[in-house]
Amino acid sequence: MSLRDRLVERIHRQGPIPFDAFVDAALYDPADGFFARGRGSGRAGRDFVTSPEVGPLFGALVARAIDDAWDALDGPDPYLVVEAGAGNGRLAREILRAQPRCARALRLVLVERSRVLRDEQRDRLPVEPVEDALGPALPGVAGDAPVPVPRIGPIVTALDELPAIVTDGVVVANELLDNLPLRLVERTPDGWAEIRVGVDRADALVEVAVPASRELAVEADELAGELRFEPGTRIPLPTGAAQWLADSSRLLRRGFLVVVDYADELASIASREPSDWLRTYRSHARGIGALDVPGGQDITYDVPVEYLRLAAKRVGLRLVSETTQAEWLGRLGIHELVADARREWSERAHVGDLHAVAARSRVGEAEALTDPAGLGAHRVFVFAKGLRLRASLPAPAPEHGG
Ligand SMILES: C[S@@+](CC[C@H](N)C(=O)[O-])C[C@H]1O[C@@H](n2cnc3c(N)ncnc32)[C@H](O)[C@@H]1O
Repeated sequence: MSLRDRLVERIHRQGPIPFDAFVDAALYDPADGFFARGRGSGRAGRDFVTSPEVGPLFGALVARAIDDAWDALDGPDPYLVVEAGAGNGRLAREILRAQPRCARALRLVLVERSRVLRDEQRDRLPVEPVEDALGPALPGVAGDAPVPVPRIGPIVTALDELPAIVTDGVVVANELLDNLPLRLVERTPDGWAEIRVGVDRADALVEVAVPASRELAVEADELAGELRFEPGTRIPLPTGAAQWLADSSRLLRRGFLVVVDYADELASIASREPSDWLRTYRSHARGIGALDVPGGQDITYDVPVEYLRLAAKRVGLRLVSETTQAEWLGRLGIHELVADARREWSERAHVGDLHAVAARSRVGEAEALTDPAGLGAHRVFVFAKGLRLRASLPAPAPEHGG
């Protein structure tokens, strides 16, 4: 039975389902979900291009941020870096190729819900058993707890969910939150309605407005804050992102959480047509209606920045920086790397060797990654937990005394 037919049957049994349940099935149903089938980021044969897919430069700069975090944590060994929503492993591969200073201490954990994509990671990376990456490797002396072996990294491992440990380290997520399930609510003259997914007489999947539960209405009011919306205004409630932030925070005793994603101010989202902020993609083009082909296309949305700040604060994560991707990469040194590449290209263009070609492609990559009308407009949120107030990523510039 197709995923659509299974959803129709479920709705006949349970009544209209919340939008997050629909998205969860459409993207992650183990047999037919869009990502479960191995679709997603990549070039030919895939559906959309993310920053890691542009080339190695993004990973090289994320590697610098990971080194800065290692310094801020006083160089732990082992040093846990979790890449959540790791897709096909391209970002992790480029991080390792950049040879970060922390490499010997590094335990790089790729967390990816799709089994097909986890299998693909093995083509790019030497994925090792999870015990080798997370567990201590030496028995302790006479009854003491086992101890981890230092300086044996990098060790890479892959999981389908965040590891159930508490540690010092970093969690990085590129374009994950916009793919996590969300609820939809719509302003009514006297409160909020929830938009659920039901079926019409012909068994087509359709939106159904039901009165919002008290809990959902409180959440919507809290997100809206001082903003006043006209009846009919629709906004997203990122329930999946809130849960993920809570789980990530639990994982960190001390450390950073870096989120790079499509995000926008709630007032801007509310002023736009829902089809403009709740989008679908397939085969590098915009898809059709979000309900039309469950499993056949990506469903993504602009995360309200206010919600991220609120949800992170609730779980003990302190926002230490919020920038665009273009600014963040600038602070990590993209402009200097591009200036070097331009110099190298102009010196070696007549030779036309691999170095020259790589230098030229780095210039093009930087343009794509910082494009204010494209990837450069992504928002980067850096949260810290258990660290001193000035901790940030990249590391704050040293203070110059007078
Ligand atoms: C838009 S893709 C981004 C992939 C990669 N980070 C990149 O930048 O190319 C989002 C990925 O997150 C994965 N994902 C979704 N929910 C997840 C979860 N709760 N834990 C781990 N991975 C998840 C999806 O399967 C998908 O591969």
